[in-house]
Amino acid sequence: MQCDHLVKGDKAVSIDFSKFKVPGPKSLELFEEESNFMAPGLQSIGLFSRIVVKEAKGVWVEDVDGNRYIDFTAGIGVGSLGHAHPHYVKVLCDQIARANYGSFSSENRVEFLRLLTSETPTGLDAVQMYSGGAEAVEAALRLAKSVTHKYEFCAFWGGFHGKTGGVLGLLGDTSFKVGLGPMMPGLYLPGPYAYCYRCSLGLSYPECGFGCLELFREGIRRQTTQNIAAILVEPIQGTAGNVVPPPGYIKAVQELAKEFDALLIADEMITGFGRTGRMWGVERDGIVPDVMTLGKGIGSGFPLSAIVSSMEMAKAKPFGNPSGSSSSYGGNPMAAAAGRAVLEVIKNENLVENARKVGAAMMKRFLELKEESPFVGDVRGQGLMIGVELVKDKKTKEPLNKELTRRLFHECLDRGLISMCYSHNVRINPPLVISEEDALEGCEIFCSALKALE
Ligand SMILES: Cc1ncc(COP(=O)(O)O)c(C=O)c1O
Repeated sequence: MQCDHLVKGDKAVSIDFSKFKVPGPKSLELFEEESNFMAPGLQSIGLFSRIVVKEAKGVWVEDVDGNRYIDFTAGIGVGSLGHAHPHYVKVLCDQIARANYGSFSSENRVEFLRLLTSETPTGLDAVQMYSGGAEAVEAALRLAKSVTHKYEFCAFWGGFHGKTGGVLGLLGDTSFKVGLGPMMPGLYLPGPYAYCYRCSLGLSYPECGFGCLELFREGIRRQTTQNIAAILVEPIQGTAGNVVPPPGYIKAVQELAKEFDALLIADEMITGFGRTGRMWGVERDGIVPDVMTLGKGIGSGFPLSAIVSSMEMAKAKPFGNPSGSSSSYGGNPMAAAAGRAVLEVIKNENLVENARKVGAAMMKRFLELKEESPFVGDVRGQGLMIGVELVKDKKTKEPLNKELTRRLFHECLDRGLISMCYSHNVRINPPLVISEEDALEGCEIFCSALKALE
């Protein structure tokens, strides 16, 4: 028996998939076999592409049919080093042959923490490790409660912070929590993020004077009991479509948090570790938040996430009690080895600078595309975190429909590019090791696939 939902993908579109060469016959056969056992709810990119990966090196991925692709997704911001980086392979192989679980310290963990805290903003020197993003965000909320003895949290429309119960109510999106209520009490979404291309208030920056934050402030006043432990914010909203707020906005959010005597938690799950062309997303506004949640690129594929705060805060109880902040997998020897290897490569290969340089070259090409294509409404980005927003009409800004974006996704695959372009908010986040040549080749593929839609 085959699971239709997995094999055919999204039924909302009526595309003749047989005219595409990807997925090839071997991928399809294996994918269909797997679908007998796989529960629904796979990440869209795996579900829609139906490719089975044979091997991958750096930014190049090869499937079991021999099709090769440039990867513009990095496993949604996870694969900072790309696949099979030799130093990463060596450090992890060495560690697995010696000790691979448990919460005892290891030489790699000592070195990882030393390296990490030499990069974190001044004052953020206490790290606790976890194995997923939502888990780290939940830990940050527990820490904020322990520090402030308050119990309310605020986050932004469009924000994404994971799908576990403690953070679900802080998702400012329109789909993930539908039907899963009631949400945990004390979680609020008082107002919109600075998504200037589609300003919820119909205003324009800079004349608006961050009117969206004014609304957020008013939302806090009216919705909460003003016992705010923390405000949670992404320096750039990833899941919403790599939405870059104007400079100064995150600093203004920090001031707002201070006004309510709340902590500021910067969710750097995607923006951290060089992705934006700076080590941390918050650096753009020159601020130091109270807590940062870190993940994705930190492990380059190994499940590793973390939170970082001052040591003084981390001691707050119950978070700071023995076993109060820990977990079974967090900071185990393998995770620590992965973190160490990633940081060493980021430093030794100047990957932050590479993200800035290659990202600028990609932005230039996408801005040209905006002039050339009737479908590109907005292009925004920092480093290798780029958003391209596709519209049906540049004046009305009506989003390009699913039928066309799904076709675009398959046109890209057929030409050798894996890209998150199955929605009108295209997110481009290749591994940080990408060369300018590969990046521009990927851009040209995207441009030609978009042209094919015309
Ligand atoms: C900013 C942000 N925070 C948290 C998460 C949750 O991470 P995970 O899927 O590992 O739970 C994500 C995932 O995309 C994210 O983008």
